[in-house]
Amino acid sequence: MVETDSEGRDKKVTRRQFARGFVLAALAAATGSLLSFLKLLAPSKKGGGYVATVAAGDRLVYAGGNRQGSLLKASEFKAGDAVLVYPEGKSGNEANLVQLIRLEESEFKAPTRKELTDQGFVAYSAICTHLGCIVGWIKDKKDPEASYIECPCHNSIFNPEQGARVMGGPAPIPLAQIGVKVSADGTLVFTSGFSGPIGPQV
Ligand code: FES
Repeated sequence: MVETDSEGRDKKVTRRQFARGFVLAALAAATGSLLSFLKLLAPSKKGGGYVATVAAGDRLVYAGGNRQGSLLKASEFKAGDAVLVYPEGKSGNEANLVQLIRLEESEFKAPTRKELTDQGFVAYSAICTHLGCIVGWIKDKKDPEASYIECPCHNSIFNPEQGARVMGGPAPIPLAQIGVKVSADGTLVFTSGFSGPIGPQV
């Protein structure tokens, strides 16, 4: 068997060398497949590696859209509105992503922690507790009370009026709540860290 080296010279490859190379390549492929298989069998780490750094006093900013990075004003939201937000200056960490919703205050029921809400604003981790996709707000324009948080990956549904209780789908636990309040200047500020675990919990 003839091969060409880097300087263009012909180089002979014996059958034995060729066979050894073939066996090594096959072994490498088999090892890779075995490792992938073992990874599938191994239980995933709870939390999926998400470590939030949001803290009381951080101000809320838009996470996306043409106002990305700018401060939120409470007056821009009415009951039934929702938006994804980050703590100011901490958007590089997806674990800090939060789903903020404004509801009628009278709609909150247990186990929502009312002391973490203000003027109808309630906030939850935006990282689904199933496999970590980012949740979204499904708004029913005719009936705001029929609106809900949904994960687009496997359709888990969370009830924002009841502490993000799981109402359907494979998510094992609610989204963790986080405290928010309206400041004197009308901007919004976090008042706590997350009330429970965030990220995948399977
Ligand atoms: S990742 Fe959200 S339902 Fe599966």
